[in-house]
Amino acid sequence: MDRTLVICKPDAVERGLVGEILARFERKGLTLAALAMRTLDRAILARHYAEHEGKPFYDDLVAFMSRGPVVVAVVEGPADTWRVVRDMMGSTNPLEAAPGTIRGDLGVLVTENLIHGSDSAESAAREIALFFGDELV
Ligand code: RTP
Ligand code: MG
Repeated sequence: MDRTLVICKPDAVERGLVGEILARFERKGLTLAALAMRTLDRAILARHYAEHEGKPFYDDLVAFMSRGPVVVAVVEGPADTWRVVRDMMGSTNPLEAAPGTIRGDLGVLVTENLIHGSDSAESAAREIALFFGDELV
């Protein structure tokens, strides 16, 4: 089995789309290994999005991600589940995301793009440990 980290971003919670998003993963055959609602502060976002620090969109990203609660999930499935989840999310910019993907079906804004998913096995391990602790990796 393989695990990856998903965050239903504040826009997903505000728009009432958390159930829709998580249901897609469940219908696909993936399972939820952990689930939590929390409000993220600058400190945890700085660690989570360390790769983006200094980029032009970083301040907007942190302001957005900390403006309200998110739902953080560990999603479990077969090998390379992180890649299955990324494919189901669609491209970063929802206007470029394919129909049938979460961002392609449900979003129009690049910052407020509903969902985060780990982008590699290494990112998944790091991010699961950051949000849920080493035991869940
Ligand atoms: P994520 O990390 O949230 O799963 O998204 P991603 O891999 O598809 O995209 P990434 O390049 O890692 O960017 C992280 C998040 O920053 C916001 N963003 N805004 N205004 C912009 O040009 C811009 N670019 C990225 C998005 O919320 C993106 O998901
Ligand atoms: Mg990313």
